[in-house]
Amino acid sequence: MRAPRTAAQAWDEEYRRGRYQDEPPVAFVADILAAAHGAGATNGLYVGCGNGRNLLPLVDGGLDLLGLDISAEAVRQLADRRPDRAGRLHHGDLDSLPAGATWPLVIGIQVFQHGDCGQAHRQVRAAQRRVAPGGLIRVRVNAVGTDVWPAHEVVERATDDGFTVRYTAGSKRGLDIHFFSRAELDQLFAGWAPVLPARPHRTERDIPGTGQWTQWEAIWQRPAELIGDQPLTG
Ligand SMILES: C[S@@+](CC[C@H](N)C(=O)[O-])C[C@H]1O[C@@H](n2cnc3c(N)ncnc32)[C@H](O)[C@@H]1O
Repeated sequence: MRAPRTAAQAWDEEYRRGRYQDEPPVAFVADILAAAHGAGATNGLYVGCGNGRNLLPLVDGGLDLLGLDISAEAVRQLADRRPDRAGRLHHGDLDSLPAGATWPLVIGIQVFQHGDCGQAHRQVRAAQRRVAPGGLIRVRVNAVGTDVWPAHEVVERATDDGFTVRYTAGSKRGLDIHFFSRAELDQLFAGWAPVLPARPHRTERDIPGTGQWTQWEAIWQRPAELIGDQPLTG
């Protein structure tokens, strides 16, 4: 039996097929730039930067971002497109970064939803640990309320309404992808100050897709000190 595709393999295939190459940035980029400029932050980490549709406008808007991605193909395409940024790209996940390194800005757009609920939460926690005290984290993740498409099975449903699907068709076939509820995000970011409270952003799918896709967009500030169950180092 063949081993299931990893997320990195699935994304490598997608980027080779031309994913995002002619796509404009998401509108959330303007909110991210405004919040960064307002906070005087210029340096950050972009987790899951892909081939740059959002990273490049953020860089051109004045942010010096380290781009991180598990897809070698995404990193290669981005370095080809902007050789001036090649030295600021890193192939790998959050665990592959130097232990204890933190940034005043951490950005994750459509990345922390990979895997089941436990994996998605571990990614959010790992990203939170990369935010310097007083720094900002900007998150865009799949939201409950989405008309999930294409074919999939629901493999997990939590009491907070968050759920996980395993796609049985399409580019994410075989992958588990998580959809967050507002209560789930509130719990994950308990103790953080909402700079842009989580708001739902809906996108109608183009044919042959059906229905709409909802994502939470939010910006939180890490307090100087956090108490409770969120380990801040390691
Ligand atoms: C939906 S794409 C979004 C790409 C980019 N943020 C954008 O909006 O254009 C998700 C990206 O996250 C990357 N990714 C998935 N899991 C990751 C992880 N654990 N660490 C780093 N990158 C990851 C994928 O390779 C892919 O490039």
